[in-house]
Amino acid sequence: MTSSEIDPTPDSGPTSTTGTSGPGVFELGGTVTIPRLGFGAMQLPGRWSGPAGDTAKAVAVARRAVELGVRYIDTASFYFSDTHRANDLLREALSPYPADLVIATKVGPLRDETGEMYAEARPDQLRGEVERNLADLGVDTLDLVHLRVGRLGSDVADSLGERFAVLAALREEGLIRQLGVSNVTRGQLAEARSIAPVAAVQNRFGVLDQADAALVDECADAGIAYMPFFALGGGHTELDGENLRKVSERHGATAFQVAIAWGLARSPSIVQIPGTASLAHLEENMAAGQLALDEDDMALLGRRG
Ligand SMILES: NC(=O)c1ccc[n+]([C@@H]2O[C@H](COP(=O)([O-])OP(=O)(O)OC[C@H]3O[C@@H](n4cnc5c(N)ncnc54)[C@H](OP(=O)(O)O)[C@@H]3O)[C@@H](O)[C@H]2O)c1
Repeated sequence: MTSSEIDPTPDSGPTSTTGTSGPGVFELGGTVTIPRLGFGAMQLPGRWSGPAGDTAKAVAVARRAVELGVRYIDTASFYFSDTHRANDLLREALSPYPADLVIATKVGPLRDETGEMYAEARPDQLRGEVERNLADLGVDTLDLVHLRVGRLGSDVADSLGERFAVLAALREEGLIRQLGVSNVTRGQLAEARSIAPVAAVQNRFGVLDQADAALVDECADAGIAYMPFFALGGGHTELDGENLRKVSERHGATAFQVAIAWGLARSPSIVQIPGTASLAHLEENMAAGQLALDEDDMALLGRRG
């Protein structure tokens, strides 16, 4: 399946639509319509730790993503390599931004210039983190800000109330349009929702990693977008397995395309944010919006219980 088959115009039907008419749309916060196939910018600056990125290539990838219909991009000021920063690359590639493009960012982890994630931001540091994203992206208001809790790889489920309340106040002030939470438990989501409306959750979830299924379903029931990270394995887990191979062969698609299409079919709330710094992979991933999985495929791969 190639990108030449893509209809870049998002389908305007119900949020559960997937397949030949495109990935379908989601009403973010009940107010902003986005296609359910977005883009994650974490790979653009180069590896989290490793080889440096390539400005021209990264800019080309970001521009091509928007050409192919992406209207939701996930980024953060702490996505940087030794030489490049995701927010700078997005600004260079896309500013002045299309009016219908939603750029979501996140705050919470503090990462120093050596790349070390050294702490979580205290409540009094969050304004500075929001202002850093505003300045880097060159905008007056951030479309959506996630409070990302916990250190990477940690399951600590502390209260997020004090920090989320700071973001809610910044939203009241007009610096942020919509709020999200990331890396949260069901309890933390409930706590956040008791403080301010939550438009999006960004947690780890994918066809080979379905531990967060209950929260995915809770988001669907509540009309909250669920943006899975590492839906393609994050470059850490090989996207392989007998059932994945069977479904891929059946559709003449790659495992990456099936993983993307599976998420879209798994829940009407899922908005995919696959990450890549490769034009070829971007084209491949965007073509997955045309891939319609059927009941047999979903029975093999896992569906809402
Ligand atoms: N909230 C959080 O804690 C959190 C954590 C991690 C990520 N995120 C967000 O989620 C987004 C997605 O996560 P991610 O980028 O880390 O992981 P991902 O989307 O699961 O996978 C990205 C990895 O898969 C490779 N890849 C992508 N498409 C491919 C294809 N068609 N064929 C072969 N390889 C392919 C990429 O390498 P190439 O560049 O070579 O294509 C990269 O190594 C990020 O961009 C970021 O915005 C959030």
